[in-house]
Amino acid sequence: MPITLPKLPYSLDALTPHMSRETLEFHYGKHHKKYVDTANQLIAGTELDGLTLADMVQRATGKTLNNVAQAWNHEFFWKCLTPREQQPDGELERALERAFGDVETFRQHFTQAATDVFGSGWAWLVMNDDGSLEVATTRNGDTPLTDGRLPLLACDVWEHAYYIDYRNDRAKYLEHFWALVNWEFVAENLGTAAPTAKAPDKGQRQGRHAAR
Ligand code: FE2
Repeated sequence: MPITLPKLPYSLDALTPHMSRETLEFHYGKHHKKYVDTANQLIAGTELDGLTLADMVQRATGKTLNNVAQAWNHEFFWKCLTPREQQPDGELERALERAFGDVETFRQHFTQAATDVFGSGWAWLVMNDDGSLEVATTRNGDTPLTDGRLPLLACDVWEHAYYIDYRNDRAKYLEHFWALVNWEFVAENLGTAAPTAKAPDKGQRQGRHAAR
């Protein structure tokens, strides 16, 4: 069964002025779609065919891994954005304060990490196995999923994410990224959306993403 290009959770115009319709037309409609199409060509008739996308990421290698991981990364990234400007609150805010001191310091760490990615890659907020939160980066199509880390928030810093709107100015793209962060989704990933939720074990966490 082929993987599908998921519908965006908002319209192509919804993220303006921070991210233009043209960027979404290319980033989602061309780049993300190409990863999905290429992944489907590569998995057809293999043992990966029929698995969830997250399970494919765990088992694939080489070119197939690059494409299924980028399909997963992008599906996750679009959910990290929303046109409804938000701020972290509740349990998520407290978790960020415990890990980084305060939300602003977290933002600075994340922005610096995203700025420092040399070439193409991603910046992440992840939860480690011991429940600690950490800012991480990955190169090219790599994803924290393969290290058993739970992604909570992602920022795509490939040039295709910002070149149409901000040309070579990654810093400006990152400024605007913060206006789009879907903190409710981050909180949901942390497991704090429900007040009684506890951090699930690694297998359950990955399964939860697989279900999305
Ligand atoms: Fe991308």
